[in-house]
Amino acid sequence: MKKVIIGGTGVYDGGEPLRQEQVDTKYGAVEVDVVALASGEEVAFLARHGKGHSVPPHRINYRANLKALQQLGVEQVLATAAVGSLNPNLPPSALVLATDFIDATRQRPLTFFEGDDGNVRHVGMEEPYCPVLRERVLLQAQRSEELVEESGVYVCTEGPRFETTAEIRMYRNWGADVVGMTNVPEVVLARELGMCYATLCLVVNMATGMKSSPITMDEINRVIGGCRDRATRLLLDTLAQPDPPRLCACNRAAMAL
Ligand code: HPA
Repeated sequence: MKKVIIGGTGVYDGGEPLRQEQVDTKYGAVEVDVVALASGEEVAFLARHGKGHSVPPHRINYRANLKALQQLGVEQVLATAAVGSLNPNLPPSALVLATDFIDATRQRPLTFFEGDDGNVRHVGMEEPYCPVLRERVLLQAQRSEELVEESGVYVCTEGPRFETTAEIRMYRNWGADVVGMTNVPEVVLARELGMCYATLCLVVNMATGMKSSPITMDEINRVIGGCRDRATRLLLDTLAQPDPPRLCACNRAAMAL
């Protein structure tokens, strides 16, 4: 399987699966669904937090997830991520393609290259999100008349708590547009493995302090309910389009000295 959708909060399946597969990796076992695209091609679907949202963001086994995808032969990863908005132009229900990120996580394993085996690598971050995959999502959005914001800076916090008002003010000053708890280290690990990776962010609330009323789970669940199907459909339809030549540099990102 060359392609996968990683579903974030609220996105727990890609339709009725053909079957489930368990993939054993040196970091742990991972369950994926196998689903069929409109083109008939089989792709994997991985629920990042587990099917019943049982794993909090800081406890997700990101390395097992990405390693399992590599073992399946995956080269293209389209992910969804529920986010809060720091940008008044991106209200709840907006869909945004991440173009860059800021890492504000604290205690997660961040790399496959720990150096234990002498294999020291540094991964390039000029374009953390694959420009070709992003373009494909935008093209498909145009075809299906879906509004997708083409760029946004994602700041990844440790969670599971929400941010303070002062933190959000600081992240705005840093240039962040959306805030979430899961894109780091996922995007980094995908690059280390040479995969093309893109994230479609689902804005589910205004971040702390961006409006006068507090964040509520009711509000978040309501908004997710309204945009999960749009997002899943868009990503499945994107992957069903014929693959363009691999002109990006994603599979050459991890560099040795
Ligand atoms: N902060 C962090 N993560 C989130 C938020 C938020 O406001 N909304 C959804 N995921």
